Amino acid sequence: MSAPSLTLFHNPASPFVRKVRVLLSETGQQDRVTLQGCLPTPVNPDAQLVQDNPVGKIPALRLADGSVLHDSRVILDYFDHQHSGTPLIPREGAARWRRLTLASMADAVMDAAVLVRYETALRPVEKHWDQWLDEQRKKIRRTLAEWEANALGELAGHFDIAAISVACALGYLDFRHPDLQWRLDNPKLAQWYAEVSQRPSLQQTQPPAG
Ligand code: BEZ
Repeated sequence: MSAPSLTLFHNPASPFVRKVRVLLSETGQQDRVTLQGCLPTPVNPDAQLVQDNPVGKIPALRLADGSVLHDSRVILDYFDHQHSGTPLIPREGAARWRRLTLASMADAVMDAAVLVRYETALRPVEKHWDQWLDEQRKKIRRTLAEWEANALGELAGHFDIAAISVACALGYLDFRHPDLQWRLDNPKLAQWYAEVSQRPSLQQTQPPAG
């Protein structure tokens, strides 16, 4: 078999990369990509990645013709147009906007969680901005409370872009921010997550230990 012609710039710790890998697995496309590892941080961009994506963020996807897609939302949309099953991003109607909004909330949780990670893991402790960190954590807690109160039925209905994104956001909280103990205030969300975590796509893409 010839080598895949698509290159996914990736890091197994990134929840944004994980969304793409989960969708690839759910749609049977994981063999289409070669994974190219990189570890960009705000203070240390990856030189190779920057050549392909000036923004310097992962995931980025280099296509066979050399063009590059980013960010994760664009790449997810691309791959969702490349399989013959039921689309995981509804193509039209109210479902499209609702599912994309839930996915966008999950992206916002990931953004906040990654920023907190950078601030606490990379920045000297005497420079930590505690009020800003608190607000990021509050954003995460508010969003999880909203899912707990109003989105469980929708999430349980279909493992699509919304459910994939929420699962990857929760997985990242477990990975980098176990101190948040998000399950305490969100038992129904925790139950849903325990169930979907058994899916092979989530099992295969778990973040690395440590
Ligand atoms: C992390 O190590 O937490 C991380 C790595 C790459 C992208 C986002 C987060």
